[in-house]
Amino acid sequence: MSDPLERLRALQGADLPVHGGRTLAYVYDSGDPEIDRIAREAVAAYAASNALDPTAFPSLLQMENELVGFACDLLDAPDTAVGTVTSGGTESILLAVQGARDSRPEVTAPRMVLPATAHAAFHKAAHYYGVEAVLVPVGPDFRADPDAMAQAMDDDTVLVIASAPSYAHGVVDPVTEIAAAAAAHGVRCHVDACIGGWVLPYAARLGRPVVPWTFAVDGVTSISVDTHKYAYAPKGTSLLVHRDAGLRKAQLFASAAWPGYTMLNATTQSTRSGGPIAGTWAVVEHIGDSGYAELADRAFSAVDAIVACIEWEPGLHVVGTPDSTLVTLATDDSLDPFTLTDELVSRGWYVQPQLSFGPDAPSIHLSVSAGTLAHVEDFAGALTESVAAARAAGPVAVDAGVVAFIEALDPASLTDDDFDGLLAASGLVGASEDGELELPSRMAEVNAMLDVASPAMREALLKAFLDRLQRPVRRPA
Ligand SMILES: Cc1ncc(COP(=O)(O)O)c(C=O)c1O
Repeated sequence: MSDPLERLRALQGADLPVHGGRTLAYVYDSGDPEIDRIAREAVAAYAASNALDPTAFPSLLQMENELVGFACDLLDAPDTAVGTVTSGGTESILLAVQGARDSRPEVTAPRMVLPATAHAAFHKAAHYYGVEAVLVPVGPDFRADPDAMAQAMDDDTVLVIASAPSYAHGVVDPVTEIAAAAAAHGVRCHVDACIGGWVLPYAARLGRPVVPWTFAVDGVTSISVDTHKYAYAPKGTSLLVHRDAGLRKAQLFASAAWPGYTMLNATTQSTRSGGPIAGTWAVVEHIGDSGYAELADRAFSAVDAIVACIEWEPGLHVVGTPDSTLVTLATDDSLDPFTLTDELVSRGWYVQPQLSFGPDAPSIHLSVSAGTLAHVEDFAGALTESVAAARAAGPVAVDAGVVAFIEALDPASLTDDDFDGLLAASGLVGASEDGELELPSRMAEVNAMLDVASPAMREALLKAFLDRLQRPVRRPA
């Protein structure tokens, strides 16, 4: 019998490192192996426990309530506040939208007003729950425009959104003005602090400028904050906090309409692994308020160092003002951003390309963690080398024939043959004999190709791509 753990370790070798402070998207590294050890042990101890029934697993209820209590302090929540542990930022957002919709049953065509920079999870919620997403363009500083948002609110508006900060540009929206406009319309205002909620309170304490965004702002009715980001907890938890229990009511679901146990849930999941809850609780308990203050200090020192490196480097600039721990960088015409991304990745720095969007040029996203601080000198060297290499390589050109091929496709009815045709025409993503996709080691050409496609076409192509990736692997007969 083969050892599955050995195979697991071998498989994991293909993944991005989750420790080492150099993976600047998807993961958040405290840089402290003791935190990871505690998380691992707590997850393992509770992996089989089920938070579905708080009377059967009261320890998980206790941990959830303590986590929400900790968050309430960070979020300036009043004594009336209540919260729920969800599986991640997207689920917290889905529930905020579902709850807002269902609290207004008289509205037959519900709408939510959101800045164009709001996270894609709101588009998913719009899609799932039939709530129209009314997108409002942001200002030149990438912050939401509260006047334009107020103009967009009407009698069918059930929810208004602000980000603290937005993912793509790392800036905090003017929450005070947006929440006031929402309150004037009698509408809920949700602050998406999924990525900033655990770090911005400490930024303020460190004396960094942070505009008000918590429950201290009148009119803010709910806030999402992800513990699996800057609380440095294991993956699988976020918190959705409401100003009072009445606002959460529509989120709760019970069904006695079947012969089994009466289903009773506060989230979209029913069975919920105790692992992420216990892992998060243990990490938060271990780090504590003073520990988070230190980690935030380290993360912001890393942000400042990285911003300085980018500004020093000819051909690069920082996009927007990093209000939190997210840095967005862009290149001038002498440098191809997708090639620069590949060059940084090849030097061990995983950064995330962002495609052009409307008038905005492509950019590169960096989520900076406390664990990054120890490596900022290495980052500076890697950046200089990567810029030189990207400049030497020159821009990535998408073949005119491929552009024409993409333009001729209809995203609404993209077929398998269309997708195969594009793979063949581009020659970028190959297929092995058994039809499995073979990804290129460098992604610049793929990103450049996606960049020329419309947003609808990007979505269609990537869905076709995911469909090909997710195919069963059968055991040999
Ligand atoms: C601002 C914001 N909202 C929502 C999300 C979605 O969170 P998740 O990926 O945990 O579902 C993210 C993720 O980065 C985020 O940055």
